[in-house]
Amino acid sequence: MARILITSALPYINGIKHLGNLAGSMLPADVWARFKRAQGHDVLYICATDEHGTPAELAAAAAGQDVRTYCDEQHAIQKRAGDAFGLSYDWFGRSSSDANRRLTQHFAAALEANGFIEERVDRMIYSVDDARFLPDRYVEGTCPHCAYEKARGDQCDNCGRLLDPTDLINPYSAVSGSRNLEVRDTRHLYLLQTKLADRIRAWVDSRTDWQPLARSIAFKHLDEGLIDRGITRDLKWGVPVVGPDGGPRPGLEGKVFYVWFDAPIEYIAATEEWATATGGSWRDWWRLDEGADDVRYVQFMGKDNVACHTVSFPATLLGSGEPWKTVDTLKAFNWLNWYGGKFSTSQGRGVFMDQALELLPADYWRWYLTAYGPEHADAAFTWETFQGAVNKDLADVLGNFVNRIVKFAESKFDGVVPSGGTPGPVEAKLEADMAAVLAEATAQFEAMEFRKGAQALRAAWVLGNEYLQEAAPWTALRTDRDRAAVGVRTGLNLVALFARLAVPVLPFTAGRIAATVGANDLSWPAADTGWTTALPEGRPVQAPEVLFRKIEDALVTEWAARFGGGEG
Ligand code: MF3
Ligand code: ZN
Repeated sequence: MARILITSALPYINGIKHLGNLAGSMLPADVWARFKRAQGHDVLYICATDEHGTPAELAAAAAGQDVRTYCDEQHAIQKRAGDAFGLSYDWFGRSSSDANRRLTQHFAAALEANGFIEERVDRMIYSVDDARFLPDRYVEGTCPHCAYEKARGDQCDNCGRLLDPTDLINPYSAVSGSRNLEVRDTRHLYLLQTKLADRIRAWVDSRTDWQPLARSIAFKHLDEGLIDRGITRDLKWGVPVVGPDGGPRPGLEGKVFYVWFDAPIEYIAATEEWATATGGSWRDWWRLDEGADDVRYVQFMGKDNVACHTVSFPATLLGSGEPWKTVDTLKAFNWLNWYGGKFSTSQGRGVFMDQALELLPADYWRWYLTAYGPEHADAAFTWETFQGAVNKDLADVLGNFVNRIVKFAESKFDGVVPSGGTPGPVEAKLEADMAAVLAEATAQFEAMEFRKGAQALRAAWVLGNEYLQEAAPWTALRTDRDRAAVGVRTGLNLVALFARLAVPVLPFTAGRIAATVGANDLSWPAADTGWTTALPEGRPVQAPEVLFRKIEDALVTEWAARFGGGEG
C-alpha cells in the first residue's frame, strides 16, 4: 500500500468554473484518486480555492460585496459544484486561511534568511485621487503596441502582449477612472530566482517521472533564463508582508504577497487545514524528515500552470533550505475549446459546472471529459460529440448491457443468479479476452493515460455485449436451460465487474450498477481476480431504472441555441 498525495491546480475564486477547467485538472485528479483508492492505496487528495489577487478584489467590487464576503460565498458555490460532480477531495481548502497566512510568511522569512529575497525600489503608478498604488489590472490605458485603448496593466486583451502598468499610454485608474496618476518610488520584495536557477535545473533533471509536456515547459523556462520576480503587491486583500516580530514591516507597510506566491503554498496549508479538521497529521505528508519520504506526490494542472509548478513553487520550496516534499509526477493537460473558440465567462459562451448538472447527471460529463478530453492535444467541446459519447458509449454499450442481462434474469430465472451448467469454450475465450482488457485498463490508468484508460473500459463493455451475442441465452433457453444459465450467470458477473471498473470515471453509476446484482465489492479488479464466479448463485438481482438516458437531437438543438454553441 502506497501513500499518495494528489493535488489539482487551485481554481480561482472569481466565479464558478467551466467544463474546460474541470477537464484539465480537477476531474482527472479525481479519477486518479478514485482509481488509487480502489486499488487500496492511502490517498490524500487536496484542492482549494485560490482567493487572493486583483481579480478577486475586482470581482467582489463588481458584485458590490466586500472581498471576504464575496470569497466566502464563491468558495461555498465551488465546493457545492465539486461535490455534485463527485470530486472526492479529502479537503477543499481556501488560500485565505490562517494556515496559509502563517506558512506563506514562514516561507518568505526562510527565503530571506537564506539570501533569496531582497528589497528593491520600484517605480509604480500611484493614484492621487484613490490614495493608493495601482498594481496590475487596477490601471488601464492605451496599449503601446497596438493602440487598443482599454489595455490592462498586466496584459493587453487586444494584442495579447504582457505589459507593465508603466508601459501604458494615457493611463487611468480602473477603480475611479481618475487620470490624476503619478509614478512614485515604492519598495517591494523580490525573489531572486536567478540565484536559484542551477538548483532548480538540477532538481528538474532529477524528476524522471514527469511527462514530456511538463519537462519541456520547465526546460524552456530555464533555458530562457529565470528572472528575479516581484512577490509583493499594493493590495489590501492578501497575505500581509510582516517584519520579524509579526508586525508591519517598516518600508513595506500595507503590502501583501503576490497571489502566485501564496497560492501553491496553499497545497501545504490546505493539508494543515485538513489535519486540523480531521485530527490527521499534515507534516508526514509534506516534511521529508517527518515521514514524507515515502509519499508519492502527484500534481494535475492545465498547461498554463506548468511554469508555476516546475519553477516558481520549487524555488520557494528549495530556497527555504528545509526538507519539503516536492512533486514526483506531474500531469499537464491542454485546452478544452468551445467549438472553434474559447470558453468565455464574460460572453457567456460555454457550459459552466453548475449549468452542466442542470442538464444531465455528473457521470455523463465525467465520461465525456475523460474519454474525449484535452489530454495530448487541445480538444473541442461540441454538443454533437457529447451526444455521441453519451448515446453510443454509455447508453448503447454499457447501459444496454446491464439492462438486458438483468431484465432477462428477472423474467426467465426468477430474478436470481442461476445455478446449473458448466462454463465452456465461449466463457473461456471471454475470460482470456477480458484478462487482456483489464490489464490494459489498469496499465493505462496507472500511467495516467485517461483517454486510453477510458477506451479500455469501453472495450470491456464491448466484450460483454459480444459475449451475450454469442452465448445468446435467450436462444439457448429453448433447448438447453443449463447452457442458458451459464450465459446469464456469466453476464451477471460481468455486471458486477463493470461496476468495479466504473468506480474511477463513473462513481455514481458504479454504485447503481453494483446494486442491480447486490454486489458490494467496488475495489479495482486485478486481471486475475476470478471475477467470473464473484456472485453467489441464488443471489437476487434487480434491473435498474434506465442507467443512461439518450440525448435526442432536439435537445442538442435546444442546448446549442441556449449556450451559444456552433457559432464559435
Ligand atoms: N488559480 C490559478 C489558475 O487558475 C492556479 C493556481 S495553482 C497554484 O490558473 F498552484 F498556484 F495554486
Ligand atoms: Zn495591445
